[in-house]
Amino acid sequence: MLEKHSDPLPPPGVDLKHPSVARVYDYILGGTANWAVDREFGDRILDKNPLARDMALANRLFLNRAVRYLTKQGIKQFLDIGAGVPTAGNTHEVADDAKREAGQVPDTRVVYVDNDPVAVAHAAMLLDSEGDPGRHAIIDADLRNPDELWQKACETQLINLDEPIALLLIAVLHVRQPDADGNDIGPQSVARFRELLPRGSYLAISHTTIEGVPDKLVERMRDIKRMYEQSNSSAGWRSHAEIAAFLGDFQLVEPGWTWTPDWHPEEAGPTTPTTPTVILRTSSESAIWAGVGKKVT
Ligand SMILES: C[S@@+](CC[C@H](N)C(=O)[O-])C[C@H]1O[C@@H](n2cnc3c(N)ncnc32)[C@H](O)[C@@H]1O
Repeated sequence: MLEKHSDPLPPPGVDLKHPSVARVYDYILGGTANWAVDREFGDRILDKNPLARDMALANRLFLNRAVRYLTKQGIKQFLDIGAGVPTAGNTHEVADDAKREAGQVPDTRVVYVDNDPVAVAHAAMLLDSEGDPGRHAIIDADLRNPDELWQKACETQLINLDEPIALLLIAVLHVRQPDADGNDIGPQSVARFRELLPRGSYLAISHTTIEGVPDKLVERMRDIKRMYEQSNSSAGWRSHAEIAAFLGDFQLVEPGWTWTPDWHPEEAGPTTPTTPTVILRTSSESAIWAGVGKKVT
């Protein structure tokens, strides 16, 4: 069980009757943007699966390395959808550090997107105090409405459609994305984003899977999936082939699809959180499949 703290006042419209994916993830990563209902749920997850924290951290480290890699490919604008509550190594910080390390002036633009009011409020606070309004923004938008989200992102004036964009969908597509009839429309939304992205853009994805995961961990993941289903949200997994399909005809960059810890491990840098260290015994214990594709046609 992680350390308890007194609850902050919630922003308007926050549902404190049910745990939220964003707030529980924040709790598991050691953040403070969470309430008793989230901590109780997070503790149940950690009781059921003591690796949950390391799995989340390994995912954050993938995000970190992917942003560094993409910045080195010349990407100057990121759209980070399902960005979550800010935590160590946020996209704009990592991109700026990568530029400084290369002896360049940080000029990368980042638009964060989330549909959780706490994630949006905390990102706005962070950007107010530490961001550059000429380069960073947060928008409240839903990936299930890709055209509306795209329009809002463009209205920030930070996205230039004549240049490649890196679209990040990190640990968000395994959160169930139901339409009005309850059908998961995550794949349709991502297909639309692939169409909207200019040529030369990249799409980075991480997603939970049970394929190739040790049996004991799969059992725990099934229990946690049931817990989510009994709460107000649900999270699941896909096969490797289903996850790979999110990239459509984008060209997969090296090293292809891997477990999060195995994707360009050499890209770790100063903004990579190193404490506490991840203690997964095998990469497959991350249970999150990760890959990056480039739009070449
Ligand atoms: C597990 S967190 C991942 C956060 C961050 N991307 C990371 O990997 O560290 C998933 C985030 O996706 C957001 N999310 C889920 N469904 C969404 C949707 N339909 N539109 C926008 N954001 C969504 C949640 O609110 C949450 O903040």
